Amino acid sequence: MGKGMQVVSTGSALRDILLGDEQYAGRRVLVPTMGALHRGHLALVKHAREVAGPDGVVVVSIFVNPIQFDREDDLEAYPRPLETDLMQCQAAGVDVVFVPDVREMYAHDRSTLVTENSLSRSLCGAARPGHFDGVCTVVLKLFMLSACHAAVFGEKDFQQLAIIRRMVRDLDVPVEIVESPTIRESDGLALSSRNVRLSATHREDAPCIFRALNEAAKLHNAEGIIRHAMKRLGESEHLKIDYLTLVDAETLQPINDLKRPSILAAAVFYDNVRLIDHVRISPP
Ligand code: PAF
Repeated sequence: MGKGMQVVSTGSALRDILLGDEQYAGRRVLVPTMGALHRGHLALVKHAREVAGPDGVVVVSIFVNPIQFDREDDLEAYPRPLETDLMQCQAAGVDVVFVPDVREMYAHDRSTLVTENSLSRSLCGAARPGHFDGVCTVVLKLFMLSACHAAVFGEKDFQQLAIIRRMVRDLDVPVEIVESPTIRESDGLALSSRNVRLSATHREDAPCIFRALNEAAKLHNAEGIIRHAMKRLGESEHLKIDYLTLVDAETLQPINDLKRPSILAAAVFYDNVRLIDHVRISPP
């Protein structure tokens, strides 16, 4: 757009620019991130530009949201390479970067939380109580602060995406939710900010997650699929399975037949690094 990238750290500065400056009057598309940007995020930014159009405004938020972490060590270890992130945003043609700190986002006596009570109960939600309430709360705040017309989320976090769609539907939030496909390394490992925390041995092992899911998804019955994926993941001496489940693609509830579109999803630990992946399965 040729207006140069703006970096702001307060909600009021963000709204002043986006709602007060004529240059930013176009369609505003938000890409919410926690930073440590990689090719996956840059694909979201590219997608956001397509949705915004050449005269639209692409806003990236970078905020490591403390209320969605269930483990202090995970929050502390989360990478925060802000300089590199900003350089990447600039190179990707982002118009505005919003980088608030925790005090800016959360009043010390905050007492309101967005809670989703159905889709968030299975999969990652079962293992991480409160995680999706933290995600919904920060995402709704970011929608309000940026007054965005649309927001782009990665399909890799399909549970997060389903929950955000549900929140938007249930609360009549006037934001279009756009889904962007998972980006993978050439060996199949889904891109994640956590990948850089894997040891060399674990990084080499990690493509087995996608391989196991993919192989299993080719089978034609639910029980066989789970058994096969479990066996393949069990062959790795490095990972610990957090969950491996076949769920209905819409309700995210565990299923034991393939009558409807479903998702085979796994979360595994390499030491304290938790990785997730999934494959979609159509009824045979
Ligand atoms: O997917 C993420 O990186 C985060 O959950 C999000 C959507 C930025 C909210 O903090």
